[in-house]
Parts: sequence; C-alpha cells; structure tokens
Amino acid sequence: MQEKILDLLKKSPEYVSGEEISSHLKISRQALWKHIHALIDAGYDIAAVPHLGYRLVSSPDRLFPSEVTRRLNTRFVGKKIHYFDTVSSTMDDALRLALSGSPEGTAVIAESQTKGRGRLGRDWYSPKYKGVYFSLILRPLIPPNQAPLLTLMSAVSLCEAIKENTGLACQIKWPNDILLHNKKVGGILTELNGETDVSRFMVIGIGINVNNDKRSMLPQSTSLKEIKKQDISRVELLQEIFRRLESNYLAFQKKGSAYITGEWREWNITLGRRVKVTCHKEHIEGEAVDIDADGGLLVRNDPGLIRKVLAGDVTHCR
Ligand code: BTN
Repeated sequence: MQEKILDLLKKSPEYVSGEEISSHLKISRQALWKHIHALIDAGYDIAAVPHLGYRLVSSPDRLFPSEVTRRLNTRFVGKKIHYFDTVSSTMDDALRLALSGSPEGTAVIAESQTKGRGRLGRDWYSPKYKGVYFSLILRPLIPPNQAPLLTLMSAVSLCEAIKENTGLACQIKWPNDILLHNKKVGGILTELNGETDVSRFMVIGIGINVNNDKRSMLPQSTSLKEIKKQDISRVELLQEIFRRLESNYLAFQKKGSAYITGEWREWNITLGRRVKVTCHKEHIEGEAVDIDADGGLLVRNDPGLIRKVLAGDVTHCR
C-alpha cells in the first residue's frame, strides 16, 4: 500500500488531497495517515497541510526494493529483492537463498556489511548508505570452466552502467577490478556451486564505492563521488547495473563467449602492458597479450612462452 501511495505522490508535483488518495486506493483516511507516518519514519519527507493534502518533498537515499524496482523494466534481474540494512555479507544470504531454490535474478542488497568479502580472501569495506553492495543469483547452463566469463560480463556491465549514469569512463584491470584514475572504485566476487559438467548456480557479488569520502577509503581506492565531485543517486545507478547485467547476460547466452571477451577488451587496461601475476604463490612476469575464450589471461614471459592464468592478482608494471 505504501508503494501505491508513493506512486500517487510521485506523479504530482502539487499537493494531493487525502480524500483523493483514500478513495483511489479504497482505504480509510485513518489508514492513509498511518501509512504516511510509516513512510515519514522510513525517511520520506512528506509535507502534510490541512485542506491541501500531501506532497512528497524528497525521498531518502535508500536502496528500498520499492525504489529500485520502480520503472526498472527488466525481465528477471532484480525482480525479486531481499533488502537489509546490515548483514554480515550479502554473499552468505544469496548462497543460502540459491540453495533453497530462489529464482535466477534474485538480488540481495544491503546498506552495509560487517564482513563484506573480496577476492583472494580480502575484506570489502562496506560503510552504511555510501556504496552499492549486492549479490545476484544466476543459473547459467554453462560448464564451470566458463564461469569466469560471467565475472568479465559483470565487469563490463558495471563500466557501462557507471558511464551511462555518471559519464565517468572506468577501466577494468584483469579480471574484474573496476578502476577510475588508476584507483579501485568497484569489485566483483563470484562464487560457484556446481557439478562437474554444468554449473547449478552462481552468485555474483558486486561492491562499488559510490558516495564514500576520501577519509573513509584506503589510499588505493576511490569513489564515484570523489571523482565526479557530486553525490550520485545509488538507486539510479543500481537500476542501470541491473539492466546492463540482464542485457549482457542474455547477449552472452545468444552470441557466446566472443561477445563477452570482445566487450571486455574495449574497457580493459591490462592487455598490452607488462604485468606481474601472483597465482598460488607462483609469480609470472611478462606482457599481457590477450584473454582466451574462457576469460583466462595470456601472459608472454621473457623466454617467450605463453602462460595462461585463470585466477590471480595482477600488478601493472608500466
Ligand atoms: C573484490 O574486488 O575483491 C571483490 C569485492 C566484492 C564485494 C562485494 S560487496 C557485495 C558482495 N558481498 C560481499 O561480501 N562481497 C561482495
């Protein structure tokens, strides 16, 4: 009901009378008043003037499902949202939901995480109401060795959404660090549950520093706000990410891996550079020449041999 009241208020820049809202939604004036109060408690600024009615002055910067799904227009990504103020890690909730059969496209969104995790056992600092932190359940019919392609697909989707939403052009450091001005602004963590031949589900965890201030970030990190010098609407950004994830996922299923690797090359900053890759205590140094059809990084070492790296930490040498 609160969503419907908000819809009516959002449609009108002027005051809408209590009588009009209650008769339209077939609820009593008293019930309407209770709902208006609940919305005010949730952070909506609603002006109430006797004889005039109600007017929505501003909405809170919260990733409420009702805000995120409004005019989202996706087929399945973000259609079902589990929203939390604080969780340990959205990955844990999404893995649990996926195991209990939640449909493809289900998203777990949190305003903050106490144990947000990143790749290679790192932490992901997730301060409240500053970033976008979510995990998405996908059920692709692909062999597990192709799973890294969906991580690359997610990196491309993030870059596209950030460009569309803020005008900022990010770059991808292999495999999926999202950089702005050579500092990390976003990251992707993929966790897989599968049988040997066909993966049963994947959870893609995405974290972006959106409105974080310099003080609250590591020196090697940045935020969209820090670069753009203005606050960014997290709701609009998340909606665009959902749209891009869905369209790239569908395109991948239709056109295959070449579509993803092609798009990834457009945004990447790793290929053509001298890199040092640390992978299971082994170090490989050389020129990053390409990625292959599975998304693995091909590095030409100094003796001229091509080594394929499937996972690891890349340092750009120059
Ligand atoms: C990385 O760059 O190392 C990946 C970072 C992934 C962070 C996101 S935030 C939402 C989801 N929940 C987590 O605990 N991690 C991912």
